[in-house]
Amino acid sequence: MSKVVLITGANRGIGLEFVHHYLKADYKVFACCRSPEGASELLSAKQAHSDQLEIMPLDVKSEPMMEALSHTLNGQPIDILIHNAGVSGPSASFGQVTEEGWLDTLKTNTLSPLLLTQLLVESVVSSTEKKIVLITSKMGSIADNGRGGSYMYRSSKAALNAVGKSLSRDLSSRGVKIGILHPGWVKTEMGGSNALISTKESVSGMCRVIDGLDQSNSGQFFAYDGSEIPW
Ligand SMILES: NC(=O)c1ccc[n+]([C@@H]2O[C@H](COP(=O)([O-])OP(=O)(O)OC[C@H]3O[C@@H](n4cnc5c(N)ncnc54)[C@H](OP(=O)(O)O)[C@@H]3O)[C@@H](O)[C@H]2O)c1
Repeated sequence: MSKVVLITGANRGIGLEFVHHYLKADYKVFACCRSPEGASELLSAKQAHSDQLEIMPLDVKSEPMMEALSHTLNGQPIDILIHNAGVSGPSASFGQVTEEGWLDTLKTNTLSPLLLTQLLVESVVSSTEKKIVLITSKMGSIADNGRGGSYMYRSSKAALNAVGKSLSRDLSSRGVKIGILHPGWVKTEMGGSNALISTKESVSGMCRVIDGLDQSNSGQFFAYDGSEIPW
């Protein structure tokens, strides 16, 4: 039986590239996105891979949608669960940060990966690979923060890293490995056109790191090229 991957925010950018990568690697792919009916690139991939690709509706800020997804999957084993959906949040320097913008950023980037993991953990535990991947950012590294600013995004990813570390401790006895991955500065809507690398380079690198995830390196913070990032 083929292995299974579930990806959030799969309709564009890095998430879409993960879809292409795992289709090529013969995985069954559950591609989650907010608006399946408007996800044109996923819909054309579906034409070429009708049995291998399922497009599922999921706004990661909606607990009812997360619960509905878990209900639909009904215990389906998931080898790799990739929490990719993310936002940079409102651009705001010191003096401009608002409660609303900050909470919204935290909800997407930090709360949703943990809440969805709580709902799908048995699916991961019952799979062969048992891997959960958090797409975080070097911007969440406190040690690497040389420029300040970006309060909402930085804090959301730093807190996501803390979530990943606790998951690696709490789920290790059940055989689950956690990847905490920085994709690099990637040419997407979020990364912009000045970014350094393509989605292909980022995702092929991250997939090598995911392949190499085991109990000895679970819960470490890695860049797409396999280098370790200081917390
Ligand atoms: N690009 C970079 O240089 C870079 C660097 C470091 C980390 N990252 C991280 O990499 C991940 C992917 O980023 P990207 O560059 O591919 O960004 P992107 O091109 O802006 O894509 C973001 C994806 O997240 C989805 N998303 C946002 N809010 C969502 C929600 N509430 N529910 C479901 N999906 C939602 C978007 O869906 P819609 O189309 O519906 O908005 C889209 O599919 C993010 O976690 C980001 O923080 C990126």
